[in-house]
Amino acid sequence: MAKVTLQTLAAMKESGEKFACLTAYDSTFANIVSTQGVEVILVGDSLGNVIQGENTTLPVTVDDMCYHTRCVARGNEDGLVMADLPFASYHDEEQAIINSARLMRAGADMVKLEGEGWLPPIVTRLREQGIPVCAHLGLTPQLVNVLGGYKVQGREIDRANAMIQAAIDLEAAGTALLLLECVPVSLAREITKAVSIPVIGIGAGPDTDGQILVSYDMLDLTPGRKARFVKNFMEQAGSTQEAIANYVKEVKDGSYPAEEHCFN
Ligand code: KIV
Ligand code: NA
Repeated sequence: MAKVTLQTLAAMKESGEKFACLTAYDSTFANIVSTQGVEVILVGDSLGNVIQGENTTLPVTVDDMCYHTRCVARGNEDGLVMADLPFASYHDEEQAIINSARLMRAGADMVKLEGEGWLPPIVTRLREQGIPVCAHLGLTPQLVNVLGGYKVQGREIDRANAMIQAAIDLEAAGTALLLLECVPVSLAREITKAVSIPVIGIGAGPDTDGQILVSYDMLDLTPGRKARFVKNFMEQAGSTQEAIANYVKEVKDGSYPAEEHCFN
């Protein structure tokens, strides 16, 4: 695979080819993921949960994200490395630039941040400084204490309309990618049609341009109850590599996510 860039993903959206994304937090996983055809590697602040054993992503710091981004960048072959800006590290443009620059120096190709209506000016400033941004909408885990838990977002018409408007405004502000988490299939489809930038989904149905999962979840390593959208790719695989290759194949041929992984 040639080095994946934002232009690669834009061309894939244009041609209707789905792309696959997974999280990685270390060099070994980054190498496996990138050599099995995954286009985007997310150094997610989900590392708070799966690496650090915390109940939420809130304790994760910029230092933590830089450390794991550096580990991932070393193991990555051709994937696009996206790193999360952690909780409360981008509340204004200056802070967003300083912290994003640290992630970029650690080896990220772009950053991801969570929010909706208030993000456009921050996205514009980051892009001007050479930092492409993915905006994460819908269920935004950094807002768990505001949202009152991890629940599907956008079932109410007002909330759905606000999300569509935010997506349009974010594209106009120069956002490179959108990520939708835990939204009804119909809303994800509508947002994906409303913007020309690629849209990644998790628990957002089959109609987004790309799919993402937490690697530990789809390898069935995470203890406890699985979210509805998680599929255990180890069930039919003899190795981690094969499970990830099957995930890529199923994302591309549209067999993942199936009906049972979606919110209607
Ligand atoms: O941190 C993370 O792993 C994420 C994905 C769940 C999208 O943000
Ligand atoms: Na995240």
